[in-house]
Amino acid sequence: MTTRTLETLIRSIPASDGAGVKLRRSLGQSDAARLDPFLMLDEFSSEDPNDYVAGFPDHPHRGFETATYILDGHMLHQDHLGNRGDLKSGGVQWMTAGRGIIHSEMPQQDHGRMRGFQLWINLPAREKMKPAGYRDLQAADIPEVKLAGGLVRVIAGTFDATPGPIAGGSTDPVYFDVHLEAGAAFSHPVKDGYNAFVYPYEGDLFIADRKVELHTAGVLSQDGELQVKAGSNGVRFLLLAGRPLNEPIVQYGPFVMNTRREIEQAIRDYQDGSLAAPARPS
Ligand code: CO
Repeated sequence: MTTRTLETLIRSIPASDGAGVKLRRSLGQSDAARLDPFLMLDEFSSEDPNDYVAGFPDHPHRGFETATYILDGHMLHQDHLGNRGDLKSGGVQWMTAGRGIIHSEMPQQDHGRMRGFQLWINLPAREKMKPAGYRDLQAADIPEVKLAGGLVRVIAGTFDATPGPIAGGSTDPVYFDVHLEAGAAFSHPVKDGYNAFVYPYEGDLFIADRKVELHTAGVLSQDGELQVKAGSNGVRFLLLAGRPLNEPIVQYGPFVMNTRREIEQAIRDYQDGSLAAPARPS
């Protein structure tokens, strides 16, 4: 059995987005720091409301998906289609921007800890202009599989015959939140040819005796099984994997398309108000 090795480390850097929300960005800090089909991974974590309370007021997206996972705290999202969802600890919002969404993502607390992740997942050319949509998943919607020495929360993909609420699609994403006790081991047969990375956010994670530092994306080789081990403090990490799209990417802020011309169209559509209009039958 082939085992995936650690190929590249993308250490997160401090960044600020929205109306000044402080966060750490690993994937997405530069055009080179992506892992097809994943465009960006932001981690936000703060006890200080000044770091997050201004949130992400109305802003557009086109051409990809976002998955927002709240570990601690409480976030309200609203979009131009009239959707409104309240994301609580342990919940996920899986949003397909498609041809266009304008939404806000606002923390609903002015004290206490706010902690979570936002992942951007690309869409293939043929799906970039599909209608927008989203799913709100509360903590209870996300299955937890017990392990010897830990557990796996299955947000997307299937772990050991347990499917998560998000399954299949063009990029067939795997999104697990894995918790291991001190010294515990974990393995998962990621499909060959899929890109995969781990992102430890608490404790110590080792892959073949190499430590992946906290808040760092550890990009894995492309074939075989993932095998990891927790250090003496245990570990909590995200495992993300997906089918690469192998298409050109042109990104301008919140618009991710295949060509410069499509980006110019997205900007025009946003400026004239048609980005988020319901799709007209063609
Ligand atoms: Co957004």
